[in-house]
Amino acid sequence: MNKSAYHRDTWAEIDLQAIKHNVVEMKNHLNNKEVFAVVKADAYGHGEKEVAEAALNAGASRLAVAVFDEALRLREHFPEVPILVMGWTAPQYVRLAAQNNITLTAFQTEWVNQAKSYLKGEPLSIHLKVDTGMGRIGIRSVEEAYDVIRACDNTSIKITGVFTHFATADESDLLYYQQQLGAFKQWLKQVKPHLPDDLTVHIGNSAAAMRFPDDMYDGVRFGISMYGLYPSPTVKGEQPIKLKPAFSLYSRLIHVKKVHKGDAISYGATYKAQDEEWIGTIPIGYGDGWIRKLQDFSALVDGNKCPIVGRICMDQSMIKLNRPYELGTKVTLIGEDQNAFVSMDDAAEHLETINYEIPCILGQRIPRFYIT
Ligand SMILES: Cc1ncc(COP(=O)(O)O)c(C=O)c1O
Repeated sequence: MNKSAYHRDTWAEIDLQAIKHNVVEMKNHLNNKEVFAVVKADAYGHGEKEVAEAALNAGASRLAVAVFDEALRLREHFPEVPILVMGWTAPQYVRLAAQNNITLTAFQTEWVNQAKSYLKGEPLSIHLKVDTGMGRIGIRSVEEAYDVIRACDNTSIKITGVFTHFATADESDLLYYQQQLGAFKQWLKQVKPHLPDDLTVHIGNSAAAMRFPDDMYDGVRFGISMYGLYPSPTVKGEQPIKLKPAFSLYSRLIHVKKVHKGDAISYGATYKAQDEEWIGTIPIGYGDGWIRKLQDFSALVDGNKCPIVGRICMDQSMIKLNRPYELGTKVTLIGEDQNAFVSMDDAAEHLETINYEIPCILGQRIPRFYIT
């Protein structure tokens, strides 16, 4: 991204070396099984093109997205790389998918029948999605699978892969994971004789891939941990591989002032200074996805934790400083400053959500700059 195209003192830095490190670690952990770089939702808010390129350079061999439009965009940059759309794509787009050599996910006989009517002989590659307990999309029984496979017979629709998705692979209680794994094994045993030999079987997300590499068949769909984040506190505690976080978020002080005891800050005048205080203003707000619930969360200035005080506005927020700082002083909202850290996990904990959500909600008004 061209820095000179932006004129704003709030930005994100994406460390592509960290992405590469995480892919290499995962490849080694898996004894070289295939890594699908999951770059849906603009690479979890990190930037799809740049992350995809870094991941592929580091040894990922495929890209996985949720939505067909994401696949079409990536195809323009990566003409040869296998791309899988993991979500549902309307059957009227199958011809466009075939022409662009994009693999779609299928799990309904009705879908296959409709897809056939749109194809004009060009080969369409599909992966069958099996619902072993996620309860979202997928074939739930062997009989349903036979139906779908029969509908594909003698057509240009080629089943090239099979996959499932785990609901609890990141939890400490492993019973449900084991049940899903067992259900998949059973399903595959019965269905495999009806499928082509050169099938790619992939079942793991980051959590399953890191914790149970031996269960992982041919490849894994590597999402959150490619970005350097552990899928849950449980997995973070176990640290099956050492990850490097890729995303940092910065701003700068654009105004610094001394306020007196009782002076109010921001909408609603809900924050009142306890004493004489130094207050800094930073140009980030809920219009950037820096949502109002982040009030009372902390940012770092010169290695010091500075609480966000008063309501977060659409474009600006205020922080309580430990002393006066010069205009333009860097403020770290996510990342490291002189051995002090504010992590995605800290923000997620404050918002009572999961780390996945944080980079996804940081909007496009925040430019992403890439460290290569
Ligand atoms: C089907 C599917 N596979 C893989 C992933 C990647 O999961 P994670 O980010 O936990 O690695 C996702 C993400 O939600 C997904 O929906």
